[in-house]
Amino acid sequence: MALVSGKQILDEAQKGKYGVGAYNVNNMEQIQAIMAAAKETKSPVIIQASRGALKYSNFTYLGYLMKAAVIENPEIPVSMHLDHGNSLDSAIKAIELGFSSVMIDGSLMEDGKTASTYDYNVKVTKSVVEYAHKRGVSVEAEIGTLGGIEDGVGSGTIHVTDPKEAKKFVNETGVDSLAIAIGTSHGAYKFKGAANLAFDVLKEIRGLISIPIVLHGASSVPKNLIDDVNKYGGKMPGATGVPMESLQEAIKLGVQKINVDTDGRLVMTAAIRKVFAESPEKFDPRDYLGPARIALTDLIKSKMLAFGTAGHSGDYAPKSLEEMKRSY
Ligand code: G3H
Ligand code: 13P
Ligand code: ZN
Repeated sequence: MALVSGKQILDEAQKGKYGVGAYNVNNMEQIQAIMAAAKETKSPVIIQASRGALKYSNFTYLGYLMKAAVIENPEIPVSMHLDHGNSLDSAIKAIELGFSSVMIDGSLMEDGKTASTYDYNVKVTKSVVEYAHKRGVSVEAEIGTLGGIEDGVGSGTIHVTDPKEAKKFVNETGVDSLAIAIGTSHGAYKFKGAANLAFDVLKEIRGLISIPIVLHGASSVPKNLIDDVNKYGGKMPGATGVPMESLQEAIKLGVQKINVDTDGRLVMTAAIRKVFAESPEKFDPRDYLGPARIALTDLIKSKMLAFGTAGHSGDYAPKSLEEMKRSY
């Protein structure tokens, strides 16, 4: 079994100078698609569940499906990660479910919408670090806020991360990785005009902190997927994302974790709409979820190649959470 902490996957990525996608999951088909892509491209992988996803699946179902991904793929280092935890309680719940990595997003208050203060962020993050590290589980925190609102996650306003504050925050909290805001947003509508990321801010942060850096809101929202969605009856005018070249530049400048949810949603929606449009007589869920699973596998494979994750699954011996616990 190769359940590893997020820290091991990201520290190795930092050493090897490549990026690792963290892909959001809600159901079996998504998990299977991501794992098939990881297996085919020999990539370490982070599968992450949001609070919304855990609630949707009643926690236990998704937890066990994610565990199945680990059991079925013993040769792949897999981290089970909580995305956008909003409190110590949410982190505890995930850790009790077997997660090896948690995010505490203290840049927002517990409602997941209201921007918090620096002091609140430090306090809640420290409480999670203390609990998680005792169990060998690694912690991602966030400083600065993203734009976009996705099912209640996000304040809707971008506050680009202050590099000096990021350094102070890392020193004060002892987190393992840090999510920063450099202009990305959650969801399918990221930019009004051309994509514009604050690479100068990223460079400055990279010069000041040594832990892995995380980019949320990193879906590319490829035009061909939007065209397919619209062609088969969808309505998503003006959707835009972060171009792959910008993500590759960010990886070059020192980003290790790249969060992707929206693109997975889009590719499955396009595939399902296509089946419905072309074969209206079909009604077996396997007839549309099957093609959606294949389409998602292909998409994730291309990301694993583009982020440089491919080929690295066998680079290192997986460390148990017990070993990680001793390293803190
Ligand atoms: O960052 C947010 C992710 O896209 C999760 O979205 O809360 O709708 O599951 P969700
Ligand atoms: P996207 O909406 O760009 O896929 O971002 C997902 C994310 O950041 C999950 O935490
Ligand atoms: Zn996010």
